[in-house]
Amino acid sequence: MSAKLEIRNLVKKFGGLTATNDVSFTIEPGQSVGLIGPNGAGKTTIFSQIMGEHPQTKGEILIDGKEISHLATPQRIHAGVSRTYQVPRPFSEMSVAENIRVGLMPDSIWDMITRGPNREREVEIASAIGLGEDQLERLPSELSMGDLRKLEMARTLATSPRLMLLDEVFAGLTVNEIAVISDLVQSMRDDGMTFLIVSHDLKALEPLVDHAIAINHGEVIAQGQYQDVMGSDIVRASYLGTA
Ligand SMILES: Nc1ncnc2c1ncn2[C@@H]1O[C@H](COP(=O)(O)OP(=O)(O)OP(=O)(O)O)[C@@H](O)[C@H]1O
Ligand SMILES: [Mg+2]
Repeated sequence: MSAKLEIRNLVKKFGGLTATNDVSFTIEPGQSVGLIGPNGAGKTTIFSQIMGEHPQTKGEILIDGKEISHLATPQRIHAGVSRTYQVPRPFSEMSVAENIRVGLMPDSIWDMITRGPNREREVEIASAIGLGEDQLERLPSELSMGDLRKLEMARTLATSPRLMLLDEVFAGLTVNEIAVISDLVQSMRDDGMTFLIVSHDLKALEPLVDHAIAINHGEVIAQGQYQDVMGSDIVRASYLGTA
């Protein structure tokens, strides 16, 4: 259930702006790693390159040793990668159950016709993520921010990932909601899920990760044990805007 991720020399240019510059790192199967850095450092752009939403200008991305960087996004999802979005992106006209169903989409139209919606699996995923059956027919607009972030996670979980990329999972949440999401991540971690987690809330991030990768201006400036990375002068300076 765990995937290994290797990023090699990733460069992303948006016109004249270099959003990531020669980024390389490896995440071992089952490892949980924090991706940190100030606003605009390039964290989300790393996620969108891994998913193929903004293909890289240069470099390679490998899952379990196999290159995925030339694949379309659905094929990458099939390879076991999934992400959540910094700003939750549910299909707003669809109910919670239908949003989860999109992630459960079978491999072929034929499967869908012959098997139909898998209600049992929808309920199972929703409940694993802490969304009650009474929430299933609600529209995303009726959910609290905490439940919206849970729905983001449920949608990704529906694709049976082995690597989850979480972008600002704690943003906009109350202390109690942070604790709930944190427990969820922890239990998936115990089950062997590989995680790369972006969070500005370093206090919430710390117990969930063993390693950290710090980036600034699109470049990796430190990586290693979480405490060592956080203690490094260059990382502190990047957060203060003096590096
Ligand atoms: N689609 C895009 N087109 C042009 N520039 C972009 C695009 N996406 C990101 N950028 C730019 O790339 C740089 C990195 O942005 P990115 O969103 O990856 O940063 P981030 O580390 O996720 O920041 P934050 O913590 O604020 O979410 C920024 O300068 C940003 O303006
Ligand atoms: Mg971002």
